[in-house]
Amino acid sequence: MTAQMPSGEPTPAAWDAVADGFDEFVTPVNSRHGAAALSRIDIGPGTRLLDVAAGSGALSIPAARRGADVTATDISPRMIERLRARASAAGVPNLQARVMDGMRLEYDDDTFDVAVSQHGVSTFVDLRGGLAELVRVTKPGGRVLVSAFGALSRAEFFGFLVGAVRAAIPGFVPPPADPPPLPFQLADVAVFRDRLVEAGLSGVTIDTTEWDTPYESATHFLAAVSSSHPIAATMVTQLAPSQRAQVTQVLDGMLRERSGGAPGAVLHAEVHIGAGTVPGWRS
Ligand SMILES: C[S@@+](CC[C@H](N)C(=O)[O-])C[C@H]1O[C@@H](n2cnc3c(N)ncnc32)[C@H](O)[C@@H]1O
Repeated sequence: MTAQMPSGEPTPAAWDAVADGFDEFVTPVNSRHGAAALSRIDIGPGTRLLDVAAGSGALSIPAARRGADVTATDISPRMIERLRARASAAGVPNLQARVMDGMRLEYDDDTFDVAVSQHGVSTFVDLRGGLAELVRVTKPGGRVLVSAFGALSRAEFFGFLVGAVRAAIPGFVPPPADPPPLPFQLADVAVFRDRLVEAGLSGVTIDTTEWDTPYESATHFLAAVSSSHPIAATMVTQLAPSQRAQVTQVLDGMLRERSGGAPGAVLHAEVHIGAGTVPGWRS
């Protein structure tokens, strides 16, 4: 391993490569948080809801269960395949899924009552462009909901991964905190608020929730975290087998220390949930 942290916006192929693991390990946790996030907006039968960067359905399926007429979009064809399989297993016919770039939504202005994106648009390099698209396709008076990670220093999954790789591989260069990795670019609540207001939303609210994730073991942690984002996947796949074994051993010690001896532990992170209304007029 070259002891270097990858950076930049992942390609659709890179998301395709992690999609099966994401669906298995990450979506079940994100779905729990997604369902809770939806309580901030009023949705039900008759609501036309768009989910951008939907992954395998962590927000879309809970929204469909509440009766909304859901359109789920994602740039990764494999994520969309996994999402369709989940929707079919969940028995929600009121959900359609399409492969689509969130930067170029193929919908007219003012199409949806609600537009949502959980760890989606908030991770785009062109964050402003992604938010502008969400707002553009939402009707005046409609609602927009966006989730994003809070402080990098409070994202324990990230600290555990970087800490274990660093302990096992001398010379590993951790990612810079400034600017932070893309999933953390809205960690500052004031910046998050500014971006939502600049995008044209009114009545903006942002609240911060604890995002707990249970890991059963070091092996489970590595599988889950390396499926959660192509950046983490690249870090883990760069490891030689002996390095991976060392990282797993270090992680095992870290998780046991956290849980008082058990092989698994619950790790915490902060997530900000922003919501706003598209004004009845557009500038
Ligand atoms: C961290 S996942 C979040 C998935 C889901 N919203 C959730 O909460 O589990 C980020 C998702 O963004 C998608 N994505 C990345 N860039 C995108 C783009 N430009 N347009 C649409 N989707 C994109 C990826 O394929 C991936 O499914």
